[in-house]
Amino acid sequence: MTVEILSLCGPEEFARTLAADARAGLTQSPKTLPAKYFYDARGSELFDRITRLPEYYLTRAETAILERTAEELVALVRPREIVEIGAGYSRKTQLLLEALGRHGGQRFVPLDVSPAALAEAGQRLTASYPWLEFLGVCGDFEHHLGGIPRSGARLVCFLGSTIGNLTAEERVPFLRDVRAMLEKNDRFLLGVDLVKPLARLHAAYNDAEGVTGLFNKNVLLVLDRELGGDLDPADFAHRAFYDPKRERIEMRLVALRRVEARFAKLGLEVVFEATEELHTEISCKFRREVVARCFKDAGLVLERWSTDEAGDFALALGRPG
Ligand code: SAH
Ligand code: AVI
Repeated sequence: MTVEILSLCGPEEFARTLAADARAGLTQSPKTLPAKYFYDARGSELFDRITRLPEYYLTRAETAILERTAEELVALVRPREIVEIGAGYSRKTQLLLEALGRHGGQRFVPLDVSPAALAEAGQRLTASYPWLEFLGVCGDFEHHLGGIPRSGARLVCFLGSTIGNLTAEERVPFLRDVRAMLEKNDRFLLGVDLVKPLARLHAAYNDAEGVTGLFNKNVLLVLDRELGGDLDPADFAHRAFYDPKRERIEMRLVALRRVEARFAKLGLEVVFEATEELHTEISCKFRREVVARCFKDAGLVLERWSTDEAGDFALALGRPG
């Protein structure tokens, strides 16, 4: 079957949004950037490497739940299409796609901000599943969910605990947009990383090989390329720590010396004082009651809650309330 790509955010709009976000984020205190800018082709590859790190238990735990539940889930929903938000390479999703094929479904619609990730997934998945209609949608899940075309009954997935990269305030508006994608018999499958002792969380974001550090610093290379910047990743250190009060990982880049950066395309100069931090990502960790409450506030009902054996990760199944 064919690979089709629909762009809801073309390169010009992407460049405009990045310029506005960078200008706003780099001129405020503390300096901050949206996490979506990690994911150019290199960033998507680095995240894929993270998923295989011994310390990054999230992907393995979520895969184990999908191995146990995918068949039953697809049999329950009987979707014509699976829509995946923030899909990346859609590796785990293959468990759902195989069940989709067995139950007569036909289409896979991954949405991602990274065209490179969509292209990779399109080639791989249509080679593995010749029956599959692949419609990749390039867009931002905080703005473009309403633009995803519908072909029939839907299972909408948001895996990997990417919802944890949104703040608590951003979460319910996002889930309302998801709710608006669903008709009566559709379902929403959400992957969430669960609150657990600090040491394992710390290790997952501070791997021994340093891949998470490379991923974190990749955002500097994206800024340099897209905005004509002159940031040098060697001038920054990776920092990630767990904040037990807010139950979230905070990821930062710390300036190792005073850095005077120029962004030619913005006509902007930015000074980082030595030890000043750039906030690059949060990764919230969840409890069942928090997910149930957010679902309720967004018009969804928590129908099923499945965890891996160790209780590290959960898949929450929601239906329209
Ligand atoms: N779902 C995959 C990938 C998770 S990595 C997994 O579970 O392993 C997060 C993915 O979300 C990346 O592919 C990234 O490009 C995408 N992403 C991040 N922010 C986004 C946004 N605002 N809109 C659309 N996609 C986004
Ligand atoms: C995509 N997202 C859920 C990952 C996470 O765990 O928050 C991104 C990541 N950041 C550092 N390591 C992985």
